[in-house]
Formats: sequence, structure tokens, C-alpha cells
Amino acid sequence: MFTRRQALQLGVGATAAASSVAIANSLSKQSQLDLTDVGNASLRERAAAKGILYGAAIEWAELSDSGFNQQILQECNILVAENEFKFGRMRPSLDRFDFTASDRLLGFARRHSIPMRGHTLVWHLALPDWFEEQVNRRNAEQVLTNHIQTVAGRYRGQIHSWDVVNEAIEPSDGRRDRLRRTPWLERLGDGYIELAFQAAAAADPEGMLVYNELGLEGNHSDAETRRRKVVELLAGLIDNGVPVHALGIQSHLTGGADYGQFEHLRPFLSDVASLGLQILVTELDVSDQHLPADLQERDRQIATLYHDYLAVLLDEAAVIAVLTWGLSDRYTWLSSHAPRQDGNAVRPLPLDDQLNRKQAWNAIARALDQAPPR
Ligand code: XIL
Repeated sequence: MFTRRQALQLGVGATAAASSVAIANSLSKQSQLDLTDVGNASLRERAAAKGILYGAAIEWAELSDSGFNQQILQECNILVAENEFKFGRMRPSLDRFDFTASDRLLGFARRHSIPMRGHTLVWHLALPDWFEEQVNRRNAEQVLTNHIQTVAGRYRGQIHSWDVVNEAIEPSDGRRDRLRRTPWLERLGDGYIELAFQAAAAADPEGMLVYNELGLEGNHSDAETRRRKVVELLAGLIDNGVPVHALGIQSHLTGGADYGQFEHLRPFLSDVASLGLQILVTELDVSDQHLPADLQERDRQIATLYHDYLAVLLDEAAVIAVLTWGLSDRYTWLSSHAPRQDGNAVRPLPLDDQLNRKQAWNAIARALDQAPPR
């Protein structure tokens, strides 16, 4: 017999068997969701009552908007910098670091005693212009470990959790191992992931070390492939004694896509939990790019996805935090990354652009209220 971990590495965990069950379940319970009367308590209070963290991604410039700033403090008990901790933002050149922006944001969080996540130490995007020319096979290992030592070392003991490696998997890149062809992988081979976690653990022994990934939520074979690869990757790291503590599930959802009732995620979540890992929902939002223009209908569909997704995720006790990628539609990356063709403003987040609570806010509130306590 295989041990549980060996079975997961071989891709014969519970994940594959689940999809037929998922379809049957989703057909039988199309929810008619009632999101009225959820009450006024903030998301942070509701989350805290269950031993969960709720928070949002912010940028420094948004905090000078006092109404928005107030909402952040009211709703969030965890924060993440949307951009200020990325490699390119911190590295004006190969031999210099600039911590002005990251220091400021962390300072804000610490003044208000809100834990902050570190996003992200290693990623294929947000690399500076000088990277391509100046980082090569000879110095890449030194550049990677020096970056992690310096950044995670500077903030040692002050960061709730580090996204050590972000988005390392991309089946469509055509590698047999399904890893993404990234500038780091090209220079260092697949060992760069392990190297990054080792360096992060050495630099900040207290920080929770997270592997963060996209595209894991869907009810189709591409997402299933990604889920299987994530479990295999994590099981392999753990087998090799690599310090990895949690999986970050980005959770950029697409309104109008068929997710069933997300039942297909249950076996995946339990596979990850059975590896001894915690799980964070790190970048939740719902793109309404393809939803009808009608505001009520649009908000209803967005809210339903928020609720149905979080109902399944929060049912797994290993899920300890939910962060939305922004808090208000006033500030969302989707305005530029996934705009609507009809020119209407996008509405992917819990608060509208006037900072009013939307159905999506009610949906998150309800899902937190229904979550089993940690
Ligand atoms: C996005 C930011 O929201 C944008 O402001 C920036 O222009 C590009 O990056 N997955 C991630 C995040 O891990 O870092 C990305 O953030 C969104 C997708």
C-alpha cells in the first residue's frame, strides 16, 4: 500500500474521483440564495468569531482616501500589499533595494495592529527591466537567495505569511512536469522552488511560508490538472523536507462561468489539508466582465459566486484566511485587466465605488457566519 503522501504524489488522491459526484450535487441544489438581513457586524468581527482572518489587498496611495482607509480599518483583520512587495518594486538595480513603499505599508498595518502578508518573493512577473540582461545562470542562485534573505530578513517576525513562490505551474507551457517556463526556472531549473522556501525559512523562521497559485477553482479539466499538480508539488516538497506551511488559492473567479456548486473542490482541499498544510484564499474577486449590464442581476450573480465559493472553502477547517483583491470597486485591478465592453464600471468587490456594502458583502458575511469555528 501507498502512504497517503505517496498516493497524492502519484496523483491518485481523492481529487480525480470527485467530478461525477460534483455534477450530481450541483444539479440537485441550485441555491435560491437569500442575502437579506445579514446584520451590520463587520467582516473582521464575523471572521474573528470563527477564528478566521478576513482582509484585502491595498496600495499605499489608496490609504490617503480617508473614507476608504476607514473602511479598511473597519472590515479587515489582515492586509496584503497589492504591489509594493513585488521584486520589481523593491529593486531599482541589481545591487540596490528600495523599501520606501513596503516600509510605509507595513508601518500602517503595524500601527493598527493588523497582520500583513508578504506578496511575493518569487514570481515570473513584476521583474525589473534590468533582470533579463543582468541575471544569468551563473548568478541567478545568488540573486534569488540574496533577494529573499534581504527582504524576508528585514521584515523577520513582522509578516503573517509570505507568498514565497507565486504561480509556478502552467500546464499549457508544455513541460512534462507542468511547471511554468519562468525566468527563474530557465536559469536555475526546477530546484528554484525549493531554494526559495529554504532561503525564506532561514531569513524569517517565524513567517508562515505559502505556495500561491492561480486557476485552481474551475470545474473543468484544465483546473483539475492544475489542482493535481499543486498537490503533487506540495507533497514532493514536504517529502524532501522543504519548509512549506500553506497553500494560497488565488481565487480570481469569473462571473458567468460554470463552477457547479464548487463541490469539486472538497477533495482537493482535503488532499491539501491531509498534507498538514493550511490554506488561504489569497486574492478573491469576481470578474463581471461578461455578466449582464443590469445592476441587480449583475450584483446577484457576483454575490452568488462569492457565497457558493466561500461556503465550500470555509467548510474546510484548514482554511484560515480569506482576502479579497481589494475592498471597494473604487480601486480594483479589474478596471484595467478585465474591463466591460459596454463601458460600464466593473463591480467585482464587496463594497461599491461609493463604499456602500453590496450583495457581495452580504454574501461574504453570510458565508463567514455559516463557517464552522476553527
Ligand atoms: C496585480 C495587481 O493587482 C495589479 O495592480 C498589477 O498591475 C498586476 O498585478 N495574481 C497575483 C497578483 O498574484 O500579484 C496580481 O496583482 C493579480 C494576479
